[in-house]
Amino acid sequence: MAKSYPRRRNFFGRVVDRVEAVCDVSFSLGHGETLAIVGESGAGKSTVGRLILRLIEPDRGRIVLDGVDLRAMPRRALRLHRRHMQMIFQDPFSSLDPRVEIGRSVEEPMLLHLGLAADERRGRALALLKRVGLDESYARRLPSGLSGGQLQRVAIARALSLNPKIIVCDEPVAALDVSVRAQVLNLMAELQEEFGMSYLFISHDLSIVRAISDRVAVMSKGRVMEIGETEQIFAAPKNDYTNELIRAIPAMAHG
Ligand SMILES: Nc1ncnc2c1ncn2[C@@H]1O[C@H](COP(=O)(O)OP(=O)(O)OP(=O)(O)O)[C@@H](O)[C@H]1O
Ligand SMILES: [Mg+2]
Repeated sequence: MAKSYPRRRNFFGRVVDRVEAVCDVSFSLGHGETLAIVGESGAGKSTVGRLILRLIEPDRGRIVLDGVDLRAMPRRALRLHRRHMQMIFQDPFSSLDPRVEIGRSVEEPMLLHLGLAADERRGRALALLKRVGLDESYARRLPSGLSGGQLQRVAIARALSLNPKIIVCDEPVAALDVSVRAQVLNLMAELQEEFGMSYLFISHDLSIVRAISDRVAVMSKGRVMEIGETEQIFAAPKNDYTNELIRAIPAMAHG
């Protein structure tokens, strides 16, 4: 698939120059698999995530989920399909509405997509919150009363509420204190075992990527430079760019 953004417009508002954010990127994501996307800032990682969720439209290309081409899908069917794909963003503060109680935020996707009765939604929201390590008392709080790590747990509970097949995680722990990163990553790994969803895990942090992903796609300037099994990529990078990225990891992080 491919996607460009307008970079410059002329005096008449016509686009005269475009940024090729993603050019001919192609990969598959298996059931229950974690595929990491790494690469420099501006490489096109987040654009790939947004394309997969169809938050933005590709200029060309296909996005296929369980054999169904999402691009060819009519709008209504696409709405139904949306529940299978969720996203967790880097900044947990801006991904939740500051005026909405935590419990309601977790209920909201179920309200929009599942049409469950109110008490059933409530029950499921509380169970999900509990599963991510937040007891019932959190349901009535506002986001401002929670730490970054706790908010990211809420975002995870919310993403899980529709039992998605894919969760796109865009730098999910980058904004968190180092001390809580491992806890949130462990939780994500446990939940994947339990629920069987796939992660598309976008990250700058190669030591995290090495620890949690099955495969890695290395992106640079809108292209996939290399893709393969995590251990293979780290042990014997085929690509100069990949090599450089790996060599840039602080020495302590080398396993
Ligand atoms: N909405 C937009 N309008 C115009 N250009 C954009 C837009 N979003 C991204 N770009 C450009 O597209 C390219 C890819 O951006 P993208 O956000 O996908 O990179 P990234 O790999 O996620 O970077 P980072 O690691 O900094 O998050 C960059 O050149 C960026 O400036
Ligand atoms: Mg990004």
